[in-house]
Amino acid sequence: MDSNSIFFPIITALLFLVVVLYICNKKHGKKYHPIGGTVLDLLINYNRLHHYMTDLAEKYKTYRVTSLFHADVYTSDPANVEYILKTNFENYGKGAHTHNLMKELLGEGIFTVDGEKWRQQRKVSSHEFSTKILRDFSSAIFTENAIKLGNMFSEAANSNQIIDINDLFMKATTDSIFRVGFGIELDNMNGSNEEGVKFSRAFDDANAQTVSRYIDISWKIKKFLNIGSEAKLKKNMKVVDEFIYKVIQIKIAQMQKSTDDSLLKKQDILSRFVQINDNDPKYLRDVIINFVLAGKDPIAISMCWFIYELCKHPEVQDKVAKEIREAINMNEEITNVAEFAARVSEATLEKMQYLHAALTETIRLYPALPVDPKICFSDDVLPDGCSVKKGDVVAFTPYAMGKMKFIWGDDAHEFKPERWIDRNGRFRTESPYKFTAFQAGPRTCLGRDFAYRQLKIFSSVLLGCFMFKLSDENKVPRYRISINLHIDGPLQIRVFKRSGLHNP
Ligand code: HEM
Repeated sequence: MDSNSIFFPIITALLFLVVVLYICNKKHGKKYHPIGGTVLDLLINYNRLHHYMTDLAEKYKTYRVTSLFHADVYTSDPANVEYILKTNFENYGKGAHTHNLMKELLGEGIFTVDGEKWRQQRKVSSHEFSTKILRDFSSAIFTENAIKLGNMFSEAANSNQIIDINDLFMKATTDSIFRVGFGIELDNMNGSNEEGVKFSRAFDDANAQTVSRYIDISWKIKKFLNIGSEAKLKKNMKVVDEFIYKVIQIKIAQMQKSTDDSLLKKQDILSRFVQINDNDPKYLRDVIINFVLAGKDPIAISMCWFIYELCKHPEVQDKVAKEIREAINMNEEITNVAEFAARVSEATLEKMQYLHAALTETIRLYPALPVDPKICFSDDVLPDGCSVKKGDVVAFTPYAMGKMKFIWGDDAHEFKPERWIDRNGRFRTESPYKFTAFQAGPRTCLGRDFAYRQLKIFSSVLLGCFMFKLSDENKVPRYRISINLHIDGPLQIRVFKRSGLHNP
């Protein structure tokens, strides 16, 4: 059978559907967003999906993508975004569909639930993230891991070796979230904990296999027959669950043994959940998995795109490095990475306003979550006057929004940290309904400060000590199509020591 004989009936059916939808809409006197394309167009443009959606957003601001049974709405209009994330928050959520796709991996964790289940986890987690003890503990872990990274870069600089930072940052942020979240040393960076490495691999594979369910309509059959990607997912989930349940058992036992209100009880996030939740292992498992997912990929992704942009803009890289070295008062006493890192404190980080701006500019252009879909729970009208129906997917699009001229001006596509700096040289914030990378409203990202702290500690140590260059200046990295905006494949970097550093 040739490809025309498959596509012709599908295209005819879709066109017919578009006409029927158009007639129905007219009849009811309702206004709907223009049709930007069909699911077929999404498939045709799959490898450049975010570029395609940016082109559509430039044309329509908000548009529909039709499929056989319903229309998904994609918006980059800040007024619509504010409405779905805040004004009518209760009407837009994860819904049963997301929950069903994600439940093997994420269970009943914060990323898959709505209503009371979400509220309860949000309350405990947001309290946890706001404590000084977590802030201090996490800063110490981030600094330790920055030193490990720095020592690896130092060795690479000495031996003129090329480093794949895509792989390395992922290992580093996984190590960080395990120490801060659960008090466990995975040591993915050095690979000394075999079980930890096995877990990480299984977790990342299970994540990819779960995401593939969004486009694989046969996943339920495969699951039933235990074949293909679903059989692999099942295997990986066994490794993941065995590891996590062991961590939980150890934690519960440690806490039962501990008689005083020791630091052990308070420092990591899991200990706090054990304290308040009756030691229910399934509940604790879901909490852990959701924090692993939230805590590692977005930071590793942001670090990678950040270093890439700094390599493309050496003048920005120099300006960032200069600010860091001035803030920590770099002098001849500092000869190695650990000494440098010892000078990085909350007070010195606060001085690094340009670094903050450059990181934010990276996240504007490369938001870790490029598209964020919600399910509409009942028929509604958005602020632009257009209707949406119960069951429709209504998604806001941080990737496309970061490129919109009507939000950022004519230079929207350019990497310009200066746009975030005010007249006094300080970082200036932007409405979260325009800069949507961290979501906004009641479900705004809980780890935003945590993320910036890790990004700033890693960056200050690495950029203060080293200069980075792409190993292949002409290679333009591509994103991988998955939930997060990962760079596809390795990002190979050459590292050079900045003046003053002698020893590793
Ligand atoms: C650059 C880094 C990060 C970015 C861009 C980012 C972005 C986001 C976005 C877009 C959401 C909404 C997701 C949704 O629709 O469900 C979200 C939610 C969340 N994030 Fe982050 N995130 C980052 C880092 C982190 C870190 C490091 C943590 C924790 C360690 C974290 C914890 C959470 C949690 C718990 C939620 C769920 C909030 C809720 O549903 O109430 N995030 N984040």
